[in-house]
Amino acid sequence: MDQALGLRNKESASMDPLASRPLAYPGTVPVRVIAVSSGKGGVGKSSVVVNLAVALDRVGKRVLIMDADLGLANIDVLLGLTPKYNIGHVLDGSRDIGQVLVNGPGRIKVLSATSGVQELTRLSDEQKLLLLDVMDDLQSEVDVVLIDNGAGISDSVLYFSLAAQEKIVVVTPEPTSLTDAYAFIKVLHLRHGERHFKILINSVKDERAGRAVFAKISRVAEHFLDGLALSYLGAIPFDYSLHKAVMQQRSLLEAFPSAAASKAFTVLAEVLEKEQPQTNFGNINFFWKRLLQI
Ligand SMILES: Nc1ncnc2c1ncn2[C@@H]1O[C@H](COP(=O)(O)OP(=O)(O)O)[C@@H](O)[C@H]1O
Ligand SMILES: [Mg+2]
Repeated sequence: MDQALGLRNKESASMDPLASRPLAYPGTVPVRVIAVSSGKGGVGKSSVVVNLAVALDRVGKRVLIMDADLGLANIDVLLGLTPKYNIGHVLDGSRDIGQVLVNGPGRIKVLSATSGVQELTRLSDEQKLLLLDVMDDLQSEVDVVLIDNGAGISDSVLYFSLAAQEKIVVVTPEPTSLTDAYAFIKVLHLRHGERHFKILINSVKDERAGRAVFAKISRVAEHFLDGLALSYLGAIPFDYSLHKAVMQQRSLLEAFPSAAASKAFTVLAEVLEKEQPQTNFGNINFFWKRLLQI
């Protein structure tokens, strides 16, 4: 697995057909790529992705959701969409990206990567170049890519987390969620040198409870893992309206705009929006280039 996930060494990088492609194009707006992961399943990753996407859309960001959960793909179900195709169809040349992307609420676009996820982890050089060309076209249409990652620490989950510039880890107060999130962070830190993780606490009573859960995980992680920097991103309250919105196959922000969790997602989008844009990353191609080289 290490080999599959380890970045290429210098020698093989020089043979890389992608190496000559520019990392960023002058004048293009940087695209933020954020992977939402958790360790444990069922903690709210997909709910966070869907509602954060809507909240970001409302502050003027053009969001692309990538459903990268191979096992339990459900962005389409949560938003009442019916994508016919996935990234695998782009790779085999049977569809172009315009046919694969589905329109979500607002200006949100959804890319179903699910059935194509495994293909993404083992592409031929020609397919890699094809994918980069495809992403060139998307560059001018997207500000933020949100990746809904699968649970666990499988190769494909680590693969998408490594490729994203920003890593949100969703944690609930359950002890199993904490231990699984810790295991996830540990693998990315020890094997791949990742240091920065944004911790989002979900399903808590209030902000204070969120901070207490964050204190627990950061105490352990920063004690046992050298050089780690966990930041507290915020807390989403437990809110039964989320369940009701899922039943309606709509985002919470659309179905119940005044629900407590809707307000928390709006605050979350504002917090992310206020953060300094990362200057060391170029455009959407940078993400794909990283992804393809892992
Ligand atoms: N803050 C919350 N309040 C109430 N229910 C929640 C909350 N977050 C998630 N849920 C519920 O938990 C279940 C699992 O959420 P989901 O987003 O599918 O998790 P994951 O993608 O991590 O597997 C869903 O039924 C969802 O409605
Ligand atoms: Mg999910």
